[in-house]
Amino acid sequence: MSRLLIVSNRLPVTVHADQGDVSVVPSAGGLVTALRGPHERHGGLWLGWPGDLARLTEEQRRDVEDRLEQLGAVPVHLTSAEVSRYYDGFSNGVLWPLFHYLVEKLHLDARHNWESYREVNERFAEAIVARYRPGDRVWIHDYQLTLVPAMLRRRIPDARIGFFLHIPFPAAEVFRILPWREQVLRGMLGADVVGFHTTAYRYHFVYSAARVLGLDPDLETLAYEGRRVRLGAYPVSIDVDEFVRLARDEEVRAEARRIRESARGRKIVLGVDRLDYTKGIPRRMLAIERFLEREPELRSKVRFIQLAVPTRENVDAYAEFRRVVNELVGRINGSYGTLDDVPIHFLHRSMPMAGVVALYLAADVMMVTPLRDGMNLVCKEYVASRIDDTGALVLSEFAGAAAELIEALLVNPHDIDAVASTIQRALVMSPSEQRVRMQALRRRVVTHDAHRWSHRFLNDLERAGGVPPAVGAA
Ligand code: ADP
Ligand code: G6P
Repeated sequence: MSRLLIVSNRLPVTVHADQGDVSVVPSAGGLVTALRGPHERHGGLWLGWPGDLARLTEEQRRDVEDRLEQLGAVPVHLTSAEVSRYYDGFSNGVLWPLFHYLVEKLHLDARHNWESYREVNERFAEAIVARYRPGDRVWIHDYQLTLVPAMLRRRIPDARIGFFLHIPFPAAEVFRILPWREQVLRGMLGADVVGFHTTAYRYHFVYSAARVLGLDPDLETLAYEGRRVRLGAYPVSIDVDEFVRLARDEEVRAEARRIRESARGRKIVLGVDRLDYTKGIPRRMLAIERFLEREPELRSKVRFIQLAVPTRENVDAYAEFRRVVNELVGRINGSYGTLDDVPIHFLHRSMPMAGVVALYLAADVMMVTPLRDGMNLVCKEYVASRIDDTGALVLSEFAGAAAELIEALLVNPHDIDAVASTIQRALVMSPSEQRVRMQALRRRVVTHDAHRWSHRFLNDLERAGGVPPAVGAA
């Protein structure tokens, strides 16, 4: 059977070195969550950045490389200048905010960041070539590596190459702001199959390719440089069985009971996100404040828990954002806290998945209110974990998941009043309404899991490629 080479900026584990101690920990984020299953099933290789190994001793480094090898992970090393330019500067300082429509956060002037992005993409292409065997399928992922498909195509013209974008593809009017728009489109079009989460993102891509490159717009297949590039919408998902297993686990259930007991009869409203400015955390906090202001009799009956995973702390916008969130939480807790309790319990840390599932089980209401999110897997994890069909999901219209999870309480995260009212509505939802909605949500998440996502993409990759018919041919 042909091997699957997965290529992404981040490996499924990240190496942390802290004052001589080295730890190899599971990476957070939707991409890694979705790809763990296919990687384990196909038994191929996963190429990516393992984190900063520069401060490791020779012995520690060898030990880490052995562990990576056992996991089928091939490290692509980055220097600290590359981390600062390619990763912090261009990937997370330009492409991430632009593709999430946050144009005011763009840093477009640092040309050396773009140069570094191009160089690191070349390095990834070379790392693939070094491991490639004829017949392998190469599956490249996300906005950090948009140039790799074309770079690999130049080196191995007949390689079978897939590319999947895990974040939104923005409307052409926004995408065209990017000075390197042409290179990014040409880079992605080096693949045989280019995948998006939703048909809307695919449409934006096709329209951008028509505007910027003058290609004939076609939603299914683009004819490009003598090849056919297939375009598809493949909504990413989670390993449902794993969440059901954790939700049934006695220790996880005991931890959920403990969380509930500590809330002393209060209902629990939960948020779980990387501490990213796309996730809508400040507006969610303002909606909570509005809710507390409007519903004095409910103040002592609700506990809000926000788990925020540290992320991209060297990017300026993230450090500033953390300060904003801390201040908001402090202000709201200062206004509405009592000697017994505070309304918002804010946890800024990473947590093992079992702990996250215990929180999902303890929560009466889950709030997933990003300003913009390619898909969002946290909402699917909540639904998968609610094996008794209870609980209510409040979901942003601007998450890719909203196209699928239509039985959630859908909200516009910019409309603070509407979000405050929806919190109230979710808290008083009857058990029968919860059941009807949750059963429908669970059916969809169970049938459209990560296994189906990768299977559909790889099936299309298997069949894709070929030359477009010559103009005028019958
Ligand atoms: P993104 O990919 O932008 O981070 P997603 O919602 O798609 O957003 O995926 C986030 C993933 O990170 C989920 O699988 C979630 O379970 C995981 N995660 C969230 N919070 C934590 C945490 N505190 N510790 C570890 N993993 C977390
Ligand atoms: C999102 C991106 C991924 C990224 C993840 C975590 O899910 O789509 O590509 O890996 O966030 O971000 P990080 O910068 O820590 O890899």
